[in-house]
Amino acid sequence: MHPISNNCKHDLENASNPRPLPLPESGHEPVLLAETLEHLNPQPGKIMVDCTLGRGGHAAALAARLGPGGLLLVLDADPRNLDFARQRLAALPAGASPVRFFLANFAELPDVTAAAGCGPVDGILADLGISTNQLFDEGYGMSFAQPMPLDMRLDPRTPTSAADIVNKWREDDLANVLYQLAQERYSRRIARKIVEARRDSPITTTDRLAGLVRSAIPSRGGAPERIDPATRTFLALRMVVNRELENLQSLLRLAPQHLKRGGRLAVISFQSTEDRLVKQAFRSAEQTGLLKVLTKKPLSPADDELARNPRSRSAKLRAAEKN
Ligand SMILES: C[S@@+](CC[C@H](N)C(=O)[O-])C[C@H]1O[C@@H](n2cnc3c(N)ncnc32)[C@H](O)[C@@H]1O
Repeated sequence: MHPISNNCKHDLENASNPRPLPLPESGHEPVLLAETLEHLNPQPGKIMVDCTLGRGGHAAALAARLGPGGLLLVLDADPRNLDFARQRLAALPAGASPVRFFLANFAELPDVTAAAGCGPVDGILADLGISTNQLFDEGYGMSFAQPMPLDMRLDPRTPTSAADIVNKWREDDLANVLYQLAQERYSRRIARKIVEARRDSPITTTDRLAGLVRSAIPSRGGAPERIDPATRTFLALRMVVNRELENLQSLLRLAPQHLKRGGRLAVISFQSTEDRLVKQAFRSAEQTGLLKVLTKKPLSPADDELARNPRSRSAKLRAAEKN
């Protein structure tokens, strides 16, 4: 965990009414923003943590509502998004809360709050997964929409890339993660194809990997595919590389301990496996009396958001309050 910078500049003299922010283009629209704000209930003077700063969309809206007497701690495991959002949030208007930036994994939440000198906080947000730029920027090596070096690490300090996995893992282990993390029914065929291909030469690009996956999957007799057949393999590899489920489990265990009574936790997930973990963690915390679940069913984007931002279609928001 690396504290990056301290408070953004603010004109505290002029800081009374939070107002809508004239935000620069971020290349990533925050999903379920209104619903997230409603459930986190950021009020002037409160302290909140955005565990997945991304391009800073949710953070900007939170900072505007927390006001100059509040504090927003923001973190991201990706230094590139952290830098982008830091510049974006430096332009927050007077009336927004100070923002403190941390290059950290959200599994390190206790280190972040300790480094900021904060006790329990009033709200914690996690908007899981990746931002649009991370999917398409060549430097991340995640997309098969265009050829790029295969990588998938959000945090460049992560020791193992997707290329390491496809070139070094045993066939059975590869098949197992494809099946377990992305429910890929052709996991064994895909793993075999990868292992055969890497005997010729290492698999180092996203397009070569995608081609191998497609060639391992039987054709649907001309019926159109709903999604590219490589999608599930790429998702599973990204989840392994970035330890996404392990980190989420840590966060779900740690976050309630770092909330004040009445503090809120909101988690936005994009896959059924993640949503199931959130649902189960909230349910068991409710059974022990630690949390009260605020969303009996997860919230999904309304039609107008879906029309504006089709990428939001799989988003699910769950929220809970500390008892
Ligand atoms: C969906 S984006 C967040 C978008 C953000 N809410 C916004 O409005 O721009 C997810 C972000 O979380 C970061 N991230 C993913 N896993 C993380 C983890 N375990 N710890 C910290 N950041 C993580 C990613 O690097 C990415 O920037």
